[in-house]
Amino acid sequence: TRPDNHVIVLFGATGDLAKRKLLPGLFHLARAGLLPDSYRIVGSSRGRSALSDDAFRKHAHDAIATFGRSEPSGPAWRTFEESLSFGAADSQDPGPLVAAVRAAEDALGGQPRKLFHLAIPPAAFASFIGMLGDTGLAENSKVIVEKPFGTDLASARALNETIHTVFDESRIFRIDHFLGKESVDNILALRFANGLLEPIWNRDHISHVQIDVPETLGLEGRARFYEVTGAFRDMIVTHLIQVLGIVAMEPPVSLAAQPLRDEKAKVFAALRPIEPGQVVRGQYEGYRGEPGVAPDSPTETFIALRLEVDNWRWAGVPFYLRSGKNLAQHREVITVGLREPPLRMFRTDLPRQEMDRGNKLVIDFGDPGWIAARFLAKEPGPAMRLAPASMTFRYAGSFCQENGLEGYERLILDALLGNQSLFTGADGIEHIWEASAPLLDSPPQLHPYAPGSWGPEPAVSELIAPHQWYLPGAG
Ligand code: BG6
Repeated sequence: TRPDNHVIVLFGATGDLAKRKLLPGLFHLARAGLLPDSYRIVGSSRGRSALSDDAFRKHAHDAIATFGRSEPSGPAWRTFEESLSFGAADSQDPGPLVAAVRAAEDALGGQPRKLFHLAIPPAAFASFIGMLGDTGLAENSKVIVEKPFGTDLASARALNETIHTVFDESRIFRIDHFLGKESVDNILALRFANGLLEPIWNRDHISHVQIDVPETLGLEGRARFYEVTGAFRDMIVTHLIQVLGIVAMEPPVSLAAQPLRDEKAKVFAALRPIEPGQVVRGQYEGYRGEPGVAPDSPTETFIALRLEVDNWRWAGVPFYLRSGKNLAQHREVITVGLREPPLRMFRTDLPRQEMDRGNKLVIDFGDPGWIAARFLAKEPGPAMRLAPASMTFRYAGSFCQENGLEGYERLILDALLGNQSLFTGADGIEHIWEASAPLLDSPPQLHPYAPGSWGPEPAVSELIAPHQWYLPGAG
């Protein structure tokens, strides 16, 4: 089923997210025939970066040409282009936006729904929500709120309260685009549809879990956002802990929004408060010289930490999370380390590092992603020698990729359809901030690291010992 007719309003339409993901994603949905039969897209930004309709069309064209999956040309592009208009909005002067939205509604006729996407810095959420209420634009609409949702427990609670004065919960879509990734969604299938894995998914068989998302990207001109956000809020609180929620949750009674949110919220409620001593923070050398960054900036661009989920299934199993900018590789990898059997009857001259490459399930959730079971096998020959081996499933080549959607595409489509299953709930987010309080209150020292490296030394081995990071790994 296609969504009802919509006016989609993109706040932050001239920003980095709109350029990289939202405009290309909307165009892909349009090309794939997944947008409503009739739709209009109204770009918006603060007055000082306002564009004319034509300049916005050119902006969208260039963004899609650079970051999109298909060329902005031909009839599909022309229809899309015609749907675009622009209306600037400051919270003091929402006039041009209101006019643009009303014009778009009139062009569609009937009573189209509205979807507001707040792709703006978190500090601006509350005033924009207030403006949507005051101007009456919020009527018959839904809102997508970008991450991070708040900066700590108090601000997340306050933000939930503000949003609830204008939107009821069924109209709020707190987005975390990692949850829209095919291979993250697939974790549910992997865990709960397979007799091979379901019985071993617990502390009896799993020694530790790694959720590792190094990036090669640097600041990309996002100083204004990143300086007040940092790696912990930008990646850990949002994406990586959300992925942890899916890896660790109990089977939900169904895949509907509420049961999924409830099970994830229980995992987050069981997170042990994060001990600053179990966290390594880093900042890449040269960060303080980036345009817009304070010369004495305390913002971390790297973070690695050990988390524990204090519940029946996971007691004693450490979860190691790592992410940072300007690192050696861009990867998105979950590694599930399995406990070793006693191995006594085998020769033990295999180096520890080699042995460590067996007994693991590795889930690469980059696009298109793969899953590998790493195990130990007998090396052919007269002696019984063990060697690491692997069985790999690759999305590319295993399934037709044609219908695949990227994270943002899937989630914008779900928001248009009103399906909240892959969006985060208020209580879950508040539990995560609660567990983060000790770290936010006393962040440990900042270690410098060389761009292109794997981050500060204490994160490379000490933090994860006696285990080892799977990355940099083969394949
Ligand atoms: C965004 C972060 O949410 O996710 C960025 O703000 C990060 O800093 C990005 O680069 C990573 O997402 P993806 O899907 O491009 O790997």
